[in-house]
Amino acid sequence: MAKDIDWANLGFGFSEVNCHVQAVWKDGAWGKLELVEKPYITMHIGASCLHYGQECFEGMKAFRQKDGKVAIFRPEENARRMIRTAIRTVMPPVPEEMFVEAAEMAVRENAEFVPPYGTGGSLYMRPLLIGTGPQIGVAPAKEYTFLMMVMPVGAYYKGGLKPVRAVILDDWDRAAPHGMGDVKVGGNYAASLFAHEKAKREGWPVELYLDAKEHKYIEEFSTSNFLGITKDGVYVTPDSHSVLPSITNMSLRQVAEDLGIKVEVRKIPYEEVRELAEVAALGTAVVITPVWEITRGSEVIKISDPEKVSDTLLKLYHTVQGIQYGEIPDTHGWCHTVEV
Ligand code: COI
Repeated sequence: MAKDIDWANLGFGFSEVNCHVQAVWKDGAWGKLELVEKPYITMHIGASCLHYGQECFEGMKAFRQKDGKVAIFRPEENARRMIRTAIRTVMPPVPEEMFVEAAEMAVRENAEFVPPYGTGGSLYMRPLLIGTGPQIGVAPAKEYTFLMMVMPVGAYYKGGLKPVRAVILDDWDRAAPHGMGDVKVGGNYAASLFAHEKAKREGWPVELYLDAKEHKYIEEFSTSNFLGITKDGVYVTPDSHSVLPSITNMSLRQVAEDLGIKVEVRKIPYEEVRELAEVAALGTAVVITPVWEITRGSEVIKISDPEKVSDTLLKLYHTVQGIQYGEIPDTHGWCHTVEV
């Protein structure tokens, strides 16, 4: 029940809400979006998502704004990215209008679970597209399920804006150069789980990946994109075919330009990390999480103060969150208001 939630101490985890939204694709067409109360689905034991990983997902957030309205941040961009992922994984794309309608329905039906303004929380939205038809030979399924699940969340990493340590574990890669790193499939996260758990056990909340071919260039963190701020104050982020095109990163590049910060999307050699003034992880879930230290083998690169977030990261963070919470004018039209 929403009234029992301790909003100020929400972590990032599953909790039950009123319902989720679901639709089924079969015989070549999408069926109606429907509200489903139970957080379970029944599927064939031969479903292609179970055997061949034919699935993808998205992550987005709805915010309770200063004036009491509820707004989803850039759902159209998530819809477009899910279409690109669906094409890459040979699934029927969910049309943008249907995706946005499902998002609106999920928010409307669960409005009481959108954390109150001022608590720092948001309603995390997890659109999911899975092959649910049986497929035993390797081929795309003939039936699919799309669903939109939501839950109230707080900070992804304990402490929110508190800087974290990261590690590069050269024995594991996240995504191959012509693999699926640039689309949002569960397999990319499965590929990182072993290293992710090892890193956590050994004291690093997040691991950073280099390009799989040469281990020469920075790619991204397991959970999020990489942002570096150079000593000259330039926003640098990797240009790579195997990095997920993060909507948070895309938005922050625009915010940076609006703030007069120069932006460069280019290859970042590992050695350059030693010269960076600041590093952060960027994503819907992690927002902007400063990274104060990066370890690779015996090298420990201290980037910034573990106790203090620099002015540039703070400015970027407060601007994007200010837009999301309706405190700063939404000049780019990023907030999609839902009548609740
Ligand atoms: C998100 O940022 O929404 C993601 O999907 C990443 C996941 C690690 C939580």
